[in-house]
Amino acid sequence: MFERSRKGEHALLIQPHSGGLAEDVLEEFADLARSAGASVAATLTARIDRPNPATLIGSGKLEEVKAAAEATGADLILVNHPLSPVQERNLERALQRRVVDRTGLILDIFAQRARSHEGKLQVELAQLKHLATRLVRGWTHLERQRGGSIGLRGPGETQLETDRRLLQKRLEQLQKRLEKVEVQHTQMRRARVRSELPRVALVGYTNAGKSTLFNALTGADAYAADQLFATLDPTVRRISLPGGSVVLADTVGFVRDLPHELVAAFRSTLSEAREADLLLHVVDAADPLREERIAQVDSVLSEVGAGELPQLLVFNKIDRIERAEPRHDHAAAAADEPGHRERVWLSARDGRGLELLQAALAQRLDLQRATGELRLPPAAGRLRAQLHALGAVRSEQADEDGWLLQLDLPRGEAERLAAREGGEPLRALLPPPAPEDWETDAGR
Ligand code: GTP
Repeated sequence: MFERSRKGEHALLIQPHSGGLAEDVLEEFADLARSAGASVAATLTARIDRPNPATLIGSGKLEEVKAAAEATGADLILVNHPLSPVQERNLERALQRRVVDRTGLILDIFAQRARSHEGKLQVELAQLKHLATRLVRGWTHLERQRGGSIGLRGPGETQLETDRRLLQKRLEQLQKRLEKVEVQHTQMRRARVRSELPRVALVGYTNAGKSTLFNALTGADAYAADQLFATLDPTVRRISLPGGSVVLADTVGFVRDLPHELVAAFRSTLSEAREADLLLHVVDAADPLREERIAQVDSVLSEVGAGELPQLLVFNKIDRIERAEPRHDHAAAAADEPGHRERVWLSARDGRGLELLQAALAQRLDLQRATGELRLPPAAGRLRAQLHALGAVRSEQADEDGWLLQLDLPRGEAERLAAREGGEPLRALLPPPAPEDWETDAGR
């Protein structure tokens, strides 16, 4: 069902705006087009003061688009704006080429990337909903052979000629199946929670390098490509860190202005993130817009109910940063200032800084342990009771000098006890501290 041709399409990009247009908006749209497998023939901007209800853009611009499509040999028109079914149809008729809007384009990418059963169902559902309004009178105004496959890929294609009743049935069927899959997933997740390993999820703007970092940390082979949304479904692995293991999940990349129809599909793929103990928020450090990207990701996290989770910011791709970048750039975000998030600078590609991240993770998740022998005098009965209450005592011998305990407890607990109870001998059990510079750069 998800077999689709890899035939490249040549796309003319239309960027509507109402005066003033940021360069990165155009670039991001071109990235989306390329991620769907198209080549970019040209980009036209179209100033729109009053949207034309029939065609969105005015008639003069429409002529310009037509001429450009012909001159460049474009067989597909991509419009970075939501189009009503009527607008889409009218544009297609006027341009004699398929026209796909931003939602259709992102849906297409999602359809290509979904791998899990649930992911496929979610995408199919979103695609059918998007197509539903566009199917009613068929696609007779366009020859199907023209203009390749973007926007027509995936399950929607088999439904093109289906009438509303059948479509409605399919939607209900999908909805039901999804509910079932969701129940199964919840059960699986519960089982995982019982295993009590801390859970860490990688989140970040699309193309920040999450999959590459996932692979570097796990030695696994999650798909990493210079395409948007290379990972649509979460991939989950167990990894070992100094002091213990954690469960690490890779998740879908974020993008600004996620089409409304996709929020549900997106939300389900982010369930791993919502249930994590810690988020690794991966940032492309070489992206001039990185601070904006961080804000965009934070806002999506809030939308899907993961806004309050603790985060560690990972500035990836330091190999691409000019050495000249002022050092204060990251020093300004010191981890220990209240309200600031800790930052680790690394390169997932060449491995620089990975050990800093591992140490930071172990520390944040309190994975490091204090282990060894502790002698307590009879007067330290209170400390002994607390160690027992924590389940930290592996074995114990009593004699006239007090107790000899074999301990194993999280480093953080040992530190807290040592500070509170004056349990000075406890300090001797503490492992050496994490590398001093883990919250700064990895040798830029
Ligand atoms: P989505 O699936 O779209 O969310 O992407 P992602 O965040 O998982 O990114 P991915 O790991 O697929 O990497 C995107 C691109 O960045 C790929 O071409 C990687 O090879 C590249 N990349 C990742 N990490 C680094 C790095 O440390 N340095 C450099 N130079 N490139 C990197």
